[in-house]
Amino acid sequence: MKKSNFIRYEWANLRADLVGSGQGLTEADLEAHRDKARAAAEKFLARVDKGEIGFPALPFDKQAPAQVERYARAQRGKVKHVLLLGIGGSALGPFALDAAVNGPRPFRKKRVAAELIVLDNVDPLILGRALEQLNPRQTLVLVITKSGSTAETMSQFLIVYDWLRKKLGRKRAAARVAAVTDPKKGDLLEIAGQEGFERFDIAPNVGGRYSVLTPVGLLPAALVGANLRALLAGAGDIVEACRRPTLEANPALASALHQWLLDTRYGKSIQVIYCYSNALYPLAFWYRQLWAESLGKRLDRQQREVLAGQTPVAALGVTDQHSQSQLYMEGPRDKVFTFWEVEESPYRIRIPKLFPKHGSTGYLAGHTLNELFRAEKFATELALTEAGRPNSTLLFPRADEYSLGQFIMLAQFQAAYAGEFYDVNAFDQPGVELGKQLTYAQLGREGYDAERQRIDSYRKQKESLGARAEK
Ligand code: PA5
Repeated sequence: MKKSNFIRYEWANLRADLVGSGQGLTEADLEAHRDKARAAAEKFLARVDKGEIGFPALPFDKQAPAQVERYARAQRGKVKHVLLLGIGGSALGPFALDAAVNGPRPFRKKRVAAELIVLDNVDPLILGRALEQLNPRQTLVLVITKSGSTAETMSQFLIVYDWLRKKLGRKRAAARVAAVTDPKKGDLLEIAGQEGFERFDIAPNVGGRYSVLTPVGLLPAALVGANLRALLAGAGDIVEACRRPTLEANPALASALHQWLLDTRYGKSIQVIYCYSNALYPLAFWYRQLWAESLGKRLDRQQREVLAGQTPVAALGVTDQHSQSQLYMEGPRDKVFTFWEVEESPYRIRIPKLFPKHGSTGYLAGHTLNELFRAEKFATELALTEAGRPNSTLLFPRADEYSLGQFIMLAQFQAAYAGEFYDVNAFDQPGVELGKQLTYAQLGREGYDAERQRIDSYRKQKESLGARAEK
């Protein structure tokens, strides 16, 4: 594989030499944590090699991609809309892959195998409009939930499946639904069996936000025409680098250590992903979930209260230069920036020489939009560095499947290694679970009496302070 096909991590601007003492990393920081980094890698990889953590093995699995491709081939030409019902780790990855491969809305590739619609909210307006406008005969429904029980996904599923059944009859409706879920447990598994839905598995050792390379991401990607082989090859080709024990050779380990040190030693509690690519912008939201849910933890692995985590923020370059950069340059020194830059665009657009005598147009003439885009990113990088704001750049060779696969694997390893540095469980989400339970309780699900009592006393307390009476 040629070197230019690999994502590169450039982090010179995280160094105190460039951003000033007390704002960036020193050689002494890195030296002092060399052994810790090696130990973190060994500890995490031992869990991978025991089969406890499954995401690093996904690119080498042949079965799931083969099943997905067979199914997608059979659907080709019959499906106009792929309606994805899912949330969090069951939705952000598929949306990001589609945007990167087929282009961000509103201008997409001319020929897209099918249009993906991701319903990752229960705002009635969205679902109402979707059902008003979709043709059930041309719509394929993917219901994706690892647990098989998430309230948002299951409620959407009930509404959409009922709609399909009323329009098409039970048998034809069932043929228009595919379920992606845990192969061993969960209500969706049972329902899928009972209704005869096509079923795809999410391996039990792969958690929601680490599941984009399972059928969670592969199935929608194949249906919208993405090249799964390139995606998985990209992911597979970077695994070896992500398993190396040294900081110099392992960009996932190095970047995890850098972010952890900047957060915990230098107060950079916010990581801004400054994404200079519209196609990759949704991927910044996938990353945001991965970083936030994996590291944002009250307790460490010894059950001590640590309130860990670095807040990830997604920003779009250059758009947010005219919205957020003022704060970034001059506001609190609590941020570290990670630029995402794409080296090659499928378009090279020349700026025409139309008004050469005007100051604001003359200098632009003859340059390309590509040059302007690069120059703006460089200007922001330099200005932030001069203002003492640490930043690094991830260079994507292209916004294509091969680069995406690499990035996804790199980011997952980075989050896992960061979990080792923070000493938190990067694979659970107790905070998310609590929100789910309190929702179940409000809607009367059995087994949630304790949560219902909690809700009642909270409401009473609020009302006693004059807040509106909630139902
Ligand atoms: O990372 C996670 O596990 C979560 O964010 C889940 O992806 C999210 O809560 C949806 O869960 P499920 O796929 O079980 O419906």
